[in-house]
Amino acid sequence: MKIAPSVLTADFSHLSTELETIANADLLHLDIMDGHFVPNISFGPAITKSIHDQTHLPLDIHLMVSDPLQWVPKFAFEQTKYLTIHVEANHVSETIQAIRKEHIGVGISLKPKTPLRAIIPYINEVSLVLVMTVEPGFGGQSFMIEMMEKVKELVELRKREGLHFLIEIDGGVNEETIQIAKSSGVDIAVVGSYLFNQEDRHQMIEALKCV
Ligand code: DX5
Ligand code: ZN
Repeated sequence: MKIAPSVLTADFSHLSTELETIANADLLHLDIMDGHFVPNISFGPAITKSIHDQTHLPLDIHLMVSDPLQWVPKFAFEQTKYLTIHVEANHVSETIQAIRKEHIGVGISLKPKTPLRAIIPYINEVSLVLVMTVEPGFGGQSFMIEMMEKVKELVELRKREGLHFLIEIDGGVNEETIQIAKSSGVDIAVVGSYLFNQEDRHQMIEALKCV
């Protein structure tokens, strides 16, 4: 399993030390919230740039914003590997084209209540599908096991259509739920509070990678 720590629950007063403790991860997951698409505000391009400059990890940027189009160029950093937008956001097609123009991998995400069919019109254009396993907005919520149905359907669809997108999950991942995710076919797991509450994060990342 590839591991993408979410810095949302990191201690931002010691950010560079926090980033060092997770340097063996595969990607760094950054949650951008606008206070409109979700009932919370996190951080924007300036703090993201500062994080970018303090890590060698590729960035996996999760835009939980209503109008992602205007933000695409502002999050197009050298290390931005995936820019993920929500299918429930405005101007999805235009935003996908804008991300592709920046030569960044397109990610599409869906909230727990959104049916999988909502992302089908975009499936040929994405490198990543991010299945939310909690309601977006906050770290520390419980994993919604029912979302594994979406993961299994995506695995089938990918095979049937000969596609290559990766399947990522976000929310409530711990040592137990990651096993369920693995057996359902997930490629990348975002891990927030569970990882940042560990004494030895480096070792935990190694253990989670082996799942
Ligand atoms: C939730 C965010 C997640 C969150 C995950 O809206 O998208 O990335 O940080 O945190 P945990 O792992 O604590 O559920
Ligand atoms: Zn996220």
